[in-house]
Amino acid sequence: EKGGYDHFMLKEIMEQPKSIEDCLRGRVIAEDLHVKLGGIQQHLPDLLNANRIIILACGTSWHAGLVAEYVFEELTRIPVEVEYASEFRYRNPIVGKGDVIIAISQSGETADTLAAIEMAKERGATILGVCNVVGSSIARASHEGAYTHAGPEIGVASTKAFTAQLTVLTSMALMVAKEKKSISENRLSELLRDLEQVPAKVEQVLKLDSAIESIAEIYKDASNCLYLGRGYNFPVALEGALKLKEISYIHAEGYPAAEMKHGPIALIDEEMPVIFIATRDSSYDKVVSNIQEVKARKGRVIAIVTEGDALIPKMVDHVIEVPNIHEMLMPMISVIPLQLLSYYIAVMRDCNVDQPRNLAKSVTVE
Ligand code: F6R
Repeated sequence: EKGGYDHFMLKEIMEQPKSIEDCLRGRVIAEDLHVKLGGIQQHLPDLLNANRIIILACGTSWHAGLVAEYVFEELTRIPVEVEYASEFRYRNPIVGKGDVIIAISQSGETADTLAAIEMAKERGATILGVCNVVGSSIARASHEGAYTHAGPEIGVASTKAFTAQLTVLTSMALMVAKEKKSISENRLSELLRDLEQVPAKVEQVLKLDSAIESIAEIYKDASNCLYLGRGYNFPVALEGALKLKEISYIHAEGYPAAEMKHGPIALIDEEMPVIFIATRDSSYDKVVSNIQEVKARKGRVIAIVTEGDALIPKMVDHVIEVPNIHEMLMPMISVIPLQLLSYYIAVMRDCNVDQPRNLAKSVTVE
């Protein structure tokens, strides 16, 4: 059942080229400039005319929502807010007709997310579900939706569901942008081509597993860890930190790298591993300065960089090279080494990787 792997988590990490491929199948055909999610045809006009998109989710799914915020705003120019479902539902939010809610949930059963969309629906908003489990409560409570088709995710730590969520959300943003004509044909074509290449590039990153295992060996006894990224990689920093804390019980925090100097920089000394997601994108130069600030305080730096980067490897303790791709799609690639790093660290610490203490796969109580 674990397909020859020691844990479901590793199996699910390794399945990602296929789960992303499954998620794209029939929906994206770059050659024909085709991008369409069959499940959201009826409510596409609501999306095109939306005053605002509100993304509701919890945990890892909320991190996927943060990436989607940047992607939707950039491509469609519709204002997006991303909210923790548990906060949204209890603060008498301003929501109604003209708002489109995108609810993201692997299980489709998260109690807070379900209650939040029910409230928004009552107040007149359109609800679109992005769920993995077919026929789940959130999928049923939504007006329409698009499944992530990642297959069953058994490991409590979400991995393949996250990359599938990013795939669906990016496709959705591209579909809206195409319809709204808020994107040029050239850019659409470039992004669709890059999207089709994601599975092969993820495959390439998965081959780094033994190199990542060696880095895990060095840092397995750390008691704290900081994850930093900017722009599209900021939510990846949050996700990397969540993966590490939930399965290895190492205290980890993710931050937008620029926020470091507003507090967390005080934590940095030679004992503190800092993981930078520092791929070549529009925030690259800024991230390089942030790495310098950490090195000046003797932090130990592991950097996820774009293949061929000549600068960062000279500055840091370890580098993990990932293939280049459009920055909007990079989270699907840059998160992979972080999943593997947490996995190996947790295994080395003898933790119950698939069923971490105190956690449940679907949180059906608030
Ligand atoms: C983290 C994790 C949780 C879930 C969260 C939401 O690895 O698994 O943070 O992402 O409980 O669950 P779903 O997506 O099922 O609503």
